Amino acid sequence: MKKKILSGNRATGKIHIGNLFGVLTNWAKLQSEYECFYEIADLHVLTTNYNHNEYMRSNIKEMATDWIACGLSPEKSTIFIQSLVPEHAELHLFFSMLVPLGWLERNPTLKEQVRDLNLQDKVNYGLLGYPVLQAADILAYKADAVPVGEDQLAHLEITREIARRFNSVYKSIFPEPKALLTDSPKVPGLDGRKMSKSLDNAIFVDELPEITKEKVKKAFTDPLKIHKNDKGHPDGCVVFAYYKLCANSNLSGCLPVNAGKVEEVRKLCTQGKIGCVNCKEELADLLNKLLVPYREVYSKVNQENIDEILEEGSRKARKVAKETLGEVKEVMNLW
Ligand code: TRP
Ligand code: SF4
Repeated sequence: MKKKILSGNRATGKIHIGNLFGVLTNWAKLQSEYECFYEIADLHVLTTNYNHNEYMRSNIKEMATDWIACGLSPEKSTIFIQSLVPEHAELHLFFSMLVPLGWLERNPTLKEQVRDLNLQDKVNYGLLGYPVLQAADILAYKADAVPVGEDQLAHLEITREIARRFNSVYKSIFPEPKALLTDSPKVPGLDGRKMSKSLDNAIFVDELPEITKEKVKKAFTDPLKIHKNDKGHPDGCVVFAYYKLCANSNLSGCLPVNAGKVEEVRKLCTQGKIGCVNCKEELADLLNKLLVPYREVYSKVNQENIDEILEEGSRKARKVAKETLGEVKEVMNLW
């Protein structure tokens, strides 16, 4: 029997190149080796955006379309919507009894979110419990592994702790899922912070090439390199980080950049032989080239089929989650 993996993203709509390089290429590859569950987490969105949910449905559909454009196949994987599997919410409730508040209050991802979204005294109960819901997502399928970016490691650790605790309090029924990290999990956004849709610093897989070009023009570079012939510091420059990603990524199709090119850019920059304007133009062209195959598939994915794919996937997912819940209730002496 194949081992199981589960992963997901909050239903925030279009995916950006951070998701593509960091996670999706990996997800697509894993499809042949594992039984895969990929979840569009709409409930998790409500933890911060419960009152800005007007685009939820279109976001879910856009995300599913992007996933398929990036190589996920509804034939090979179970692609589903979290809220269509209510067992997640039920399991979340059971787990919530087992989780000391300290685990959640210490969660570094929460601290980051509070800082980035200015939530200082606005943290609600649901947001605090974000990792508990995530644990329910993962453990409802008894996933052996979770392919994620580095930013999710803290959450995964809480999942493992919950699994351990459940197993020792009731009965040992859950595996302790492992993280499967990608080679290039951290992708900086255009401003140098982590790439994130909510920080408005992302390059989207399915945007027009002209837009990508405009965005790269404004990307954060070495602030000390003002004139073309100033000697620059490529480490810490976002544009340089993208060169490296383009050369390292394990994307399908041919890579427009190799390691030699990256070293050449490094040299030209540190010696003051290239200006940021040119350097950015060239990078934007490379990125656009790299994204061509994804953009092509995207424009061909049939929007009418998406609903069907998601409903069918959710039915399949629910069957598995229901079985787990049956077992959970039994060991908890519930009816
Ligand atoms: N927290 C994840 C993110 O922000 C999304 C997520 C929800 C998830 N449930 C999950 C990731 C289960 C892995 C496994 O991207
Ligand atoms: Fe970055 Fe290129 Fe400018 Fe160097 S020349 S700082 S690598 S954009």
